[in-house]
Amino acid sequence: MNFRDTLKINSAGHLEIGGADTVDLAEKFGTPLYVLDCAYIEKVAKAFFDTMKSGYGEGGVAFASKAFSAAAIYKLIGGLGLYADVVSKGELYTALSGGFPAERVVVHGNNKLDYEIDYAVEKGAGYIVIDAFDEGGRIDAAAKRYKKVQKVLVRVNPGVEAHTHEFVRTAKDDSKFGFSIKNGDADAFIKSVFKYENLEFCGLHCHIGSQIFDRQAFSLAAGVMTDYIKRLRDLYGITVNVLNLGGGFGVHYTSKDPLYTADDYAGYVAHLTAALKENVAKKDIKKPFLLIEPGRSLIAEAGITLYRVGAVKDIKGIKKYYAIDGGMFENPRYVMYRSEYSAIIANKANEPFSETVTLTGKCCESGDMIAVDILLQKAARGDIAAVFSTGAYNYSMSSHYNGNLTPPVVMVKDGEAEYIVKPETCEDLTRNHVIPSFLK
Ligand SMILES: Cc1ncc(COP(=O)(O)O)c(C=O)c1O
Repeated sequence: MNFRDTLKINSAGHLEIGGADTVDLAEKFGTPLYVLDCAYIEKVAKAFFDTMKSGYGEGGVAFASKAFSAAAIYKLIGGLGLYADVVSKGELYTALSGGFPAERVVVHGNNKLDYEIDYAVEKGAGYIVIDAFDEGGRIDAAAKRYKKVQKVLVRVNPGVEAHTHEFVRTAKDDSKFGFSIKNGDADAFIKSVFKYENLEFCGLHCHIGSQIFDRQAFSLAAGVMTDYIKRLRDLYGITVNVLNLGGGFGVHYTSKDPLYTADDYAGYVAHLTAALKENVAKKDIKKPFLLIEPGRSLIAEAGITLYRVGAVKDIKGIKKYYAIDGGMFENPRYVMYRSEYSAIIANKANEPFSETVTLTGKCCESGDMIAVDILLQKAARGDIAAVFSTGAYNYSMSSHYNGNLTPPVVMVKDGEAEYIVKPETCEDLTRNHVIPSFLK
């Protein structure tokens, strides 16, 4: 459990987040409920941002907003001076609706649609990251239409793959993202990008994986990318001014994962920037403006999800289920990746973790689980279960499966709690449904 100042057990023996008692939150806002601790996001964002400035200088931190895309989040991180990476027109629209400055937006996507390119160029997105051969011409045409010069980066595949505690230089290059350095696609595309009069080639992007704890993975990526920057300069006289090293910093989901504080994230950035500076000096290349794109690490641990326990099913000697009022419609990560979570019974937080139970959802799928065989307190119908580290890729991956409503999101700070996403109603489910004339 990632307990801290703003996530603790209070004197009533209840779980408290951002100064708010979770039992009161469940009572006031209902369940299931996503809750975000504003102070945690601010603290980690500041750690990333400040270390980038002090350890490197010319650089920026882009929140990978696929982790949590909501107007208030863009407002918060925009106010903290961060960039944001977006992967669709919808995310860009949401960012702008939260007052996020377009010039600090980095646009991604392995298959950007024409209307998405058009919208990004029209709104003045800071960088578009080119991911496919035909994108150069398509972005150029849009820029020409708007009489603009669009800054672009090129996403390359450095052949470094990192996950949790492992990283490898991989010979395999089968990613759907980016141009392979190894097979020559990256060289071929980058040499050709200068023919587009309405594009300004600024530099390179790579992203090596997710839930990465080993800092060496990032120094390896910095090494490979600076080798490549040098190669572009030596072979073709091309200068790289911007280097975006992506995201992927790990977070604590269960006791198997390290417990990281904001200082640890600052340490990641310090390590990465030191490695980059060393490579730049050694290879005598121009020091690039550095971007990183943390998603999960900025927001996962800020989030908890509150549920009401319903049916308790004890299949003696086999399995014990606590069925909750959420499920794969609001957290599909177990279903998609077998992701693991830890939890607590929020109104019995001081009681012993005496039961091995599975938190199962309410969807009509036997695989609809949130956390399997975890230790929890003894609970009964009506108790409040809180699942930790649900701030990233939960709300943003939610669906209406089985006609369930996406839960609202509440942000807490200094004991105050306010919606940042209001509750849905059944009318929201049918808002866009129409009966065709031949069925009338
Ligand atoms: C291009 C890019 N940048 C950043 C991220 C953020 O990764 P994470 O949330 O693991 O930090 C992702 C995640 O998929 C990504 O694809």
